[in-house]
Amino acid sequence: MGKGTGISKAVAIGIGVLTVSSLCCLVLMAVMYKIQIDKYPPVNPPLPSKPPVLPTGLPPSLRLPDNVIPESYKVFLQPYFYPAITNNYTNQSFAFTGNSTVRIKCMTDSKTVFLHVLDLNVTTVEVRKSDSNVKLSLGGYRIHRNESNFLEIQLKDVMSGNETYYDIFTEFEGELQNDLTGFYMSQYTEKVKGDEDEDVDQERFLATSLMKPTDARKVFPCFDEPALKAEFEITVIHRPDTTALSNQKGAPDTTEIDGEEWVVTTFPKTPIMSTYLLALTVSDFTFVSKSSAIRINIYGRSEAINAGHADYALEITEKILNHYQKLFELKYSLEKIDQIALPDISVGAMENWGLISYQESGLLIDKNMASTFDQERVATLIAHELAHQGAAVLRMLATFIGDEEAFMKGIKTYLSKFQFQNVVYKDLWECLKQETSKDVEAFMSTWIKEVGYPVVTIITQTGELTQEQFLLKQSWGHGIAWQVDIRYFVSSDFVVKQDLLKVNGPVRRPHFQIEKKDEWLLANVDCAGFFRVNYDEENWNKLHMQLERNHEVIPLINRGQLIDDAFNLARASRLNVTIALSLTKYLINETEYIPWESALKNLDHLILMFDRSEVYGPITKYLRKQITPLYKHFEEYTKNGTIPEKHTDQYNQVNAISVACSHGLSSCITMASGLFRDYRNGTNKIHPNLRKEIYCSAIAAGDEDDWEFAWNEYQRATAPAEKDKLRYALSCTKEIWLLNRYLQYTLDPSKIRKTDMVSTINYIAKNVAGQPLAWDLLRQLQKEQDENDQDIAAQALEQVIERTEANIEWVKENKQLVKDWFIGEM
Ligand SMILES: *[C@@H]1O[C@H](CO)[C@@H](O)[C@H](O)[C@H]1NC(C)=O
Ligand SMILES: *[C@@H]1O[C@H](CO)[C@@H](O)[C@H](O)[C@H]1NC(C)=O
Ligand SMILES: *[C@@H]1O[C@H](CO)[C@@H](O)[C@H](O)[C@H]1NC(C)=O
Ligand SMILES: *[C@@H]1O[C@H](CO)[C@@H](O)[C@H](O)[C@H]1NC(C)=O
Ligand SMILES: *[C@@H]1O[C@H](CO)[C@@H](O)[C@H](O)[C@H]1NC(C)=O
Ligand SMILES: *[C@@H]1O[C@H](CO)[C@@H](O)[C@H](O)[C@H]1NC(C)=O
Ligand SMILES: *[C@@H]1O[C@H](CO)[C@@H](O)[C@H](O)[C@H]1NC(C)=O
Ligand SMILES: *[C@@H]1O[C@H](CO)[C@@H](O)[C@H](O)[C@H]1NC(C)=O
Ligand SMILES: *[C@@H]1O[C@H](CO)[C@@H](O)[C@H](O)[C@H]1NC(C)=O
Ligand SMILES: *[C@@H]1O[C@H](CO)[C@@H](O)[C@H](O)[C@H]1NC(C)=O
Repeated sequence: MGKGTGISKAVAIGIGVLTVSSLCCLVLMAVMYKIQIDKYPPVNPPLPSKPPVLPTGLPPSLRLPDNVIPESYKVFLQPYFYPAITNNYTNQSFAFTGNSTVRIKCMTDSKTVFLHVLDLNVTTVEVRKSDSNVKLSLGGYRIHRNESNFLEIQLKDVMSGNETYYDIFTEFEGELQNDLTGFYMSQYTEKVKGDEDEDVDQERFLATSLMKPTDARKVFPCFDEPALKAEFEITVIHRPDTTALSNQKGAPDTTEIDGEEWVVTTFPKTPIMSTYLLALTVSDFTFVSKSSAIRINIYGRSEAINAGHADYALEITEKILNHYQKLFELKYSLEKIDQIALPDISVGAMENWGLISYQESGLLIDKNMASTFDQERVATLIAHELAHQGAAVLRMLATFIGDEEAFMKGIKTYLSKFQFQNVVYKDLWECLKQETSKDVEAFMSTWIKEVGYPVVTIITQTGELTQEQFLLKQSWGHGIAWQVDIRYFVSSDFVVKQDLLKVNGPVRRPHFQIEKKDEWLLANVDCAGFFRVNYDEENWNKLHMQLERNHEVIPLINRGQLIDDAFNLARASRLNVTIALSLTKYLINETEYIPWESALKNLDHLILMFDRSEVYGPITKYLRKQITPLYKHFEEYTKNGTIPEKHTDQYNQVNAISVACSHGLSSCITMASGLFRDYRNGTNKIHPNLRKEIYCSAIAAGDEDDWEFAWNEYQRATAPAEKDKLRYALSCTKEIWLLNRYLQYTLDPSKIRKTDMVSTINYIAKNVAGQPLAWDLLRQLQKEQDENDQDIAAQALEQVIERTEANIEWVKENKQLVKDWFIGEM
């Protein structure tokens, strides 16, 4: 998760983590799938290659040697920038200077020390023995200006390896750059009153940090590997009228240096942590705050704070903290939690200990402009960042134990006992063991040890049962056995039966054997278990027939699961893709969100694989046919500018509009264009929930004037949620020249902020008309020499590839089949 927190729509639903348990199953699958992809990355299309970096001798690996271990750091940093330039005599400066004293424990007799440093000039290096403060004589030091980022210190004296402590002192200077990594500079504008009381835009500056994954080395020389944890004592010296924040609660004090006034903010020592969790900001932001069990501060641009845009986040943070505290009977040991909304950050959010950074749209909400989804997104993001709990199988464990109270009690004991230590699952089992007689450790051990999750295959005629590791590409893992708790029922008898599968061999004969000819079996009832299920083709067909006869016989969550399992099994070449496709036919009668979302997500993937080919036409026609009743189901609300009451219906209304309009349902396009015309005439009646889709549809159907209007609205809008919707909608145009213009805008930070560059290019690349343009641009960027932009462009490229990634073999094998199927349905 190097790119920070991504919250999927399915997760965002209904503050997913906290309330909607029925969705957990699908969500978990998505999370585990992501882990799977990270571990076994898809094969990417060939890229224009960079010149290879040749390995050059010592030290043999890029890892730091283990002759010394860092214990604690004492770091002083002094950034020189002013938050605003108010007269012509002030010279802005982005330089910073600092010094750092790191205490190390020497493990083997040594004459060298390696640290990390990048983009800093190191001006002084001294090594002293800690207890006596005696200086060791230095042979010299040098920075390896290659990918190792090593600062190599050579000593004439030997450091003794019997765990003796030494202090390494460095002085250094660097520059705050506008590159979103390390300690970086960000610019934004604030409206202030001019001489004649008119509104004037004033340029503002702030410094903030993103050390993840390995950029602490750009701020001060350090042992920049996650395992080399230490305590950090930070002091920041900054201009008056600015506030410095860090993981701990700062104590500011004013002082005079060279005749100038400065503020010195000292932060108490942090607990032992990795370098990448350090966080720093220096800004003229203001804040709102609340003291409940713990002090909660939310920082942002003063314009946004004054307009009340942080109030929702403040309220919800308190609620979420209280909820966690009640749920787990925990006291937060932190003195404060600062959350800050940054105009420029390259990840959605970064959960630094005690100081959490967000993109503005992740934390700030204009209640008048925001949709219910925007509010949920903020709430979910905050809940996620505060929870830090990435233990997803717990729900299944709770089902296995069967006694929720016992489960919660065990969890509570565990959390309060091991609050500040790294999670050790064994301890959790110990706590749970005291509450239940079941063998928790045996049940869970395979789930923790093995990668991914299993697929259980049931041959209903014989009752044969097998389990394998589910993988999309690699050959499937045999010989791995999860303990799987199978709940199932058959169509003649709706009593849920349970069977624990713990076989380590391939085949097992349990009780469920289907004898009657038209009887079917459904396993993993209500999705209580964390695995996929495959059946023999006959059972799949019977389930498909049941869906068409009366889909409500099958539990709602399982309707979604059947579709999701079938498509994933088809992509892994374990099921004929036509079976997966035929499960979507019944959707013409379906109005519930979960099955629709599951089908759309999977069909979307199919469209991505096929969209340049002739399969695209028939898919579009099929989807248009299937979505029409759902669109009509919500049409009265949509036209009235209102939304249904039920939460999942609201999501489904958005899906209906999005799919209907983008696949050419004329009544949908007419509706969208009409509402947009009213908006252009001065009355925006579109409900905030529906704006993203309706703007997009209207611009797709509209002309250059519509696009220009939306662009002007985008520039004028101040609420981040509304801005995001317009920014997305601008990518929906079908006109090549407008898409090209928009792409050029993404390279101009005065038009599209750097923080939004990647996602905007992504939006454009998702548009069939925009895809080739985005590719060309990215190739061109890669050739250019500007390093910062290259980095960001490479990031964008990565994401685009992820989206358009297609299994070439699979497409080749299934193209005709898929095409014939859709043509048959036309
Ligand atoms: C800075 O100088 C420009 C012209 O050189 C002048 O127009 C402007 O008012 C000055 N600004 C301040 C804040 O003195
Ligand atoms: C700002 O820079 C100018 C030219 O480089 C210099 O003459 C002036 O003294 C500087 N002012 C301050 C306050 O340092
Ligand atoms: C480090 O810098 C700070 C601030 O400039 C200074 O007060 C302190 O004495 C320096 N530390 C050492 C050991 O020189
Ligand atoms: C990096 O450069 C130094 C010379 O400054 C060289 O000794 C070292 O082997 C290089 N390391 C790598 C990994 O390229
Ligand atoms: C480590 O060894 C040095 C000399 O080799 C000695 O002076 C010192 O007392 C020893 N320290 C400890 C903690 O044993
Ligand atoms: C580092 O030193 C070089 C050479 O003296 C200088 O040009 C550069 O500006 C310095 N960089 C910083 C960040 O101070
Ligand atoms: C839709 O429902 C009707 C009536 O219940 C049924 O006759 C029809 O077969 C269903 N269509 C599909 C495709 O499931
Ligand atoms: C998949 O099913 C279709 C008919 O539904 C059939 O024509 C095709 O041969 C099957 N493919 C495989 C690989 O079994
Ligand atoms: C739509 O508006 C009409 C007229 O105002 C009203 O009668 C109808 O109930 C509304 N429908 C919905 C679904 O809000
Ligand atoms: C909206 O503006 C269009 C021209 O852009 C005009 O034809 C139309 O009558 C206007 N509609 C309303 C309701 O004002």
